[in-house]
Amino acid sequence: MLYISPSILSADFANLQRDCTEAVGNGADFLHIDVMDGHFVPNITVGAPVLKCLKKAIPDAFYDVHLMISDPNRYAPQFAEAGADLICFHLESDGDVQQTIDTIRSLGCKVGIAVKPATPVDAVLPFIDKVDLVLVMTVEPGFGGQDFMTEQCEKVFALRQAAIDRGLDGLMIEVDGGIDKYTSQIAVTAGANVLVAGSAVFGRGSIAQNIAAIRRACQGEG
Ligand code: DX5
Ligand code: ZN
Repeated sequence: MLYISPSILSADFANLQRDCTEAVGNGADFLHIDVMDGHFVPNITVGAPVLKCLKKAIPDAFYDVHLMISDPNRYAPQFAEAGADLICFHLESDGDVQQTIDTIRSLGCKVGIAVKPATPVDAVLPFIDKVDLVLVMTVEPGFGGQDFMTEQCEKVFALRQAAIDRGLDGLMIEVDGGIDKYTSQIAVTAGANVLVAGSAVFGRGSIAQNIAAIRRACQGEG
């Protein structure tokens, strides 16, 4: 199963409900909420109040929350309360990884763990049987619109092999950064099954057609 998770970072924030409704009604499986604290990454985006309003406006969407913040264990409850379905935190953030996993689980959310480009796959392997999703960053986290780092697909491939070897058939592997109708095919071939796309979905043209183009490309019809 292939999931497409448009990143709201490239949506029109003055028309967030409109853009997200169009995405969800036209093939988006998840909505990817990029949360940045100006500390873990050099940018600031949105917090739990924005998620809470979106959840109220579009209750049936699946909210895939990507925390690029220094202290995820402290803030995860706010995002769960606001409507997150899955909370993904960075392996490189502060705090004990297992404790943060346990916190997110106790909140009733699915758990994801994200790795920056410089983090080796070995660092995340001890946790793959404890989470629902591993997010492989295919750009440096912080900004939309950057170029896809193809070499990160080696990490995706190694993760998928490890998941298969351990019988973790349901492990979702998400790629985030520079995903479009071309790069998504490379990522899916390597073993990714959740595609985050910001500028390729919300940047220009029709949101519905942009999502369809990514899905078609990954089904070999591109
Ligand atoms: C980057 C974010 C991404 C980003 C993706 O730090 O985590 O989700 O918004 O945007 P594009 O698809 O434009 O690279
Ligand atoms: Zn993201």
